[in-house]
Amino acid sequence: MNSTTPVKQNTKPNASAIPPWRVVRPESDGADQVAAQTVTEKTIVLAKNVTKSYRRHKTSVAVLKGVDFSADQGKVTAIVGQSGSGKSTLLHLLGTLDKPDSGEIHFANQRIDNLSARQRDLFRNKKLGMIFQFYHLLPELTLLENIVAPAMIGQSLFSYFRNRSGILRRAKSLADMVGLSHRLHHKPNELSGGEMQRTAIARALITDPKLLLADEPTGNLDQESGQSILQLLRNLNEETGLTIVMVTHDENIAAQCDALVRLKGGKVERLK
Ligand SMILES: Nc1ncnc2c1ncn2[C@@H]1O[C@H](COP(=O)(O)OP(=O)(O)OP(=O)(O)O)[C@@H](O)[C@H]1O
Ligand SMILES: [Mg+2]
Repeated sequence: MNSTTPVKQNTKPNASAIPPWRVVRPESDGADQVAAQTVTEKTIVLAKNVTKSYRRHKTSVAVLKGVDFSADQGKVTAIVGQSGSGKSTLLHLLGTLDKPDSGEIHFANQRIDNLSARQRDLFRNKKLGMIFQFYHLLPELTLLENIVAPAMIGQSLFSYFRNRSGILRRAKSLADMVGLSHRLHHKPNELSGGEMQRTAIARALITDPKLLLADEPTGNLDQESGQSILQLLRNLNEETGLTIVMVTHDENIAAQCDALVRLKGGKVERLK
């Protein structure tokens, strides 16, 4: 090429050079801006170009169509979206309860979507706490036994009995923290919805997880109980640095979170 030939300047970033977990700000026209949000040393969980379909009768329904998502350590991240948009599906994939059809899920620099079933069980038990709209407590067990259960599952019987008094002490202190030390021997059907969710939170924390995944944790509660559960989660985040990723329908709750994404059309838009 002749050195005097004008060179056409390409001012747009090369799309193929953008890592798939970088997200385009929804307020931009999408063509020439890349959000500042990228993977940093603070990223604890990351979904890269994740797809997931479900078979219904003979047809396949695509729910997630290339989802990029990240959440930072120490933050509360909310996932919003219409009913059926795939919020629970995404949360289940982040929590290794299900596998994506394609794409990758990473947790603190470790790829987790390709772990074996046993490795996934171990990973969940050691690293994650999960709470759900309908609590998922074991009805035959007392409040205290429900809280202790994940600590029993995570170790051999021998090791459990060796550590039993420490585990019970921790379970009682968690029950106290969620305001239920006066209900230790009650069964779930003797508790209110808010009390069941508090129990579920204490149970999720017994193994000292790095990340709490919450699927509509206030969805089955009246406004006041829901607000107090939210306050409890916020206090946990502020006082212990617990990272939380929470699915919610409630715009007020979403607005109180540090980061906010919306699932729409099978993709994630970052709103905050
Ligand atoms: N196991 C399954 N088999 C078939 N279809 C499923 C399955 N799980 C979810 N779906 C479908 O996938 C879509 C997304 O479901 P998902 O539960 O993730 O939505 P959501 O955003 O959590 O909705 P909601 O706000 O009502 O809880 C829905 O259309 C749902 O019917
Ligand atoms: Mg859901």
